[in-house]
Amino acid sequence: MRSQDKAEDNAVRRQADSAGVDLARLPAHIAIIMDGNGRWAKARGRPRLMGHREGYRNLRKVLADCSDLGIRYLTVYAFSAENWRRPPDEVEGLMKLLERAARDELRMMLQNNVRMRLAGRIDELSPALRRVLLDTVATTEGNTGIVFTLAVNYGGRAEIVDAVRDLVAAGFEPNDITEELVSAHLYNPDQPEPDLMIRTAGEVRWSNFLLWQGAYCELVVSDVPWPEFGRRQLFEAVATFQHRTRKFGAVVE
Ligand code: FPP
Repeated sequence: MRSQDKAEDNAVRRQADSAGVDLARLPAHIAIIMDGNGRWAKARGRPRLMGHREGYRNLRKVLADCSDLGIRYLTVYAFSAENWRRPPDEVEGLMKLLERAARDELRMMLQNNVRMRLAGRIDELSPALRRVLLDTVATTEGNTGIVFTLAVNYGGRAEIVDAVRDLVAAGFEPNDITEELVSAHLYNPDQPEPDLMIRTAGEVRWSNFLLWQGAYCELVVSDVPWPEFGRRQLFEAVATFQHRTRKFGAVVE
């Protein structure tokens, strides 16, 4: 991974070019629903947590590839507000994995100019996990490369509810409420909306991810489970995105 302050020539960009990706029209923001860890592990007769560990390993590679390619924002769904309903040992394992990842990856993020941010109800996480996540966000705040947003205890509806609560608390009247105002009270209002949302492991569902911001994003589903979603599949998803015509509700001739 390299700093992508300017899009340098590098192996990933050359490979993407050969794979049919138009380097001049990259999506600014990619969001990923990293699905299929459990099925990947089960197919190998291994516990589901093993799948999440492989998912984490793969996320490191995909983050590096997105950075090298020149993607400015990558947002990943690491733990949804609904994932608390999973068996307690899986929830605990995921929480430990997140804590370890935030601790272990700080050096990588600093070396590679990655800025980490969060989306979700972070105040509901354990104090230890909250501390390490917020430390990583603070320590990488000045980095100018790819903005990597980890959605943890995140729900799209909850995010909209939180924005509405902020607006009510700030005393806005019904007639003051506009789409711009709601957008300005989401978790990361300064980020561009995702252009491309990738979901792995074949399910064609939105699953409460970036509901407001994803209203006009292009959804690309890959059949490959997340632990196996590699560079080739990333290039395919970007090329598919580039072949779509985005209309934003209008008529495009
Ligand atoms: C969905 O697969 C995946 C999750 C709920 C967790 C995603 C977490 C990771 C990729 C690893 C942790 C990330 C970090 C940053 C440490 P699933 O379990 O629903 O798969 P299934 O549909 O096959 O059961």
